[in-house]
Amino acid sequence: MMDRWAENRKREDGLSESAAQGKKEGGDQAGRTAGETAGVSTEAGIRAAVSHFEVLLREQLLRQQRMEEGEAAVDYSEKARITIGLIDGDGIGPVIMREARRVLEKLLADEISSGRVVLRKIEGLTIENRLALGKAVPDDVLEAIKSCDVLLKGPTTTPKGGSLESANVTLRRELDLFANVRPVTVPEEGIDWIFFRENTEGEYALGSRGVELPGALTMDFKVTTDAGTRRIARAAFEYARRNGKKNVAIVTKANIMKKTDGMFSRIAHEVAADYPEIEAEDWYIDIMTANLVNPRLRSRFQVFLLPNLYGDIITDEAAQIQGGVGTAGSANTGSRYAMFEAIHGSAPRKIEAGEGEYANPSSILKAAEMLLRHIAMTEQADRLHNALEICLETERGVIVTGHRDGARCAEFGDYLLEKL
Ligand code: IPM
Ligand code: MG
Repeated sequence: MMDRWAENRKREDGLSESAAQGKKEGGDQAGRTAGETAGVSTEAGIRAAVSHFEVLLREQLLRQQRMEEGEAAVDYSEKARITIGLIDGDGIGPVIMREARRVLEKLLADEISSGRVVLRKIEGLTIENRLALGKAVPDDVLEAIKSCDVLLKGPTTTPKGGSLESANVTLRRELDLFANVRPVTVPEEGIDWIFFRENTEGEYALGSRGVELPGALTMDFKVTTDAGTRRIARAAFEYARRNGKKNVAIVTKANIMKKTDGMFSRIAHEVAADYPEIEAEDWYIDIMTANLVNPRLRSRFQVFLLPNLYGDIITDEAAQIQGGVGTAGSANTGSRYAMFEAIHGSAPRKIEAGEGEYANPSSILKAAEMLLRHIAMTEQADRLHNALEICLETERGVIVTGHRDGARCAEFGDYLLEKL
């Protein structure tokens, strides 16, 4: 007599491959009833998911070990030649990047002519090219990017669903840009916040590699590592110390995400112990989002330290308080590379409405200021900062609204260049 069990196993093993690829099993081609098919396919799916999980676990452990070895940060004041990669991106990206390039060309004219700074245009990080090649960041584009030191990047479109990963997420991982630093200020309200968002872990680490038992359940993974948390916490507390800040808010949901956020909070406090002059406070993300819209409380916060997804969400809220997501700059920094970008997206609706030329370049210009500071061009960064303040706050001679009723992006660029 046949070994029914072994027979079944063989059949299930055959199915496990397609289950791993997330394909739905067909009906009763093998002469089985629908119920049996579902049972077999579920078992196969579970086994496929478990072995997938093992792969992920080993891979993430290796990543944690590599991080533990650490890498010294580049000292740009010592560097003979600095290559700045300029990436247009999609939608309104080319419009706002045109102004950013003009500003950098003017501010860095001497350094460019002496060869100390090179501005290099990186082509091909467009949604059309990425979709055609089926790659979040095509190989040749990634290679060109890696030949630069720092990058200024326009927004790139991420299709919802499908399997194409966000270019941002890919670049943050490939270049190991672990710190997402986002300042937000509202001077008249005494708000001077800076967010240190962990940028490579949490829900983002394996965001496109979850598991699915078709028709039944889906499961994503959230990853927190010891070394990954330690380095972002260190960045936040170092910033606080160097800038005379007295308070760091560690924001998690450790009451629910006990393993991942629990570890994030614990390690953040271990790091905080090296900074006794700075108060480290624990907050939960839900109440912190409320605090930010509480005028009696919000100006007391200074530095925020958060895992990836909470940082993503709360920095949009914070930017909105400052005047809109189009007004904030964003730095993604690692030890070797750094990428500076607008906090907003590519605004495809604005392009469809024929309003692309009216896009607001403030966010990318603030990112350019952060880039200049990062490469130790402090004087140029200050000049940009002061000119932006005149154009956006004190004088406001040319006002961009993002729509036809306001000035064009290029008109704002001309105005800013005059004030530099
Ligand atoms: C951001 C963006 C990105 C993110 C998107 C574009 C992938 O929202 O930089 O905050 O989720 O991190
Ligand atoms: Mg975001």
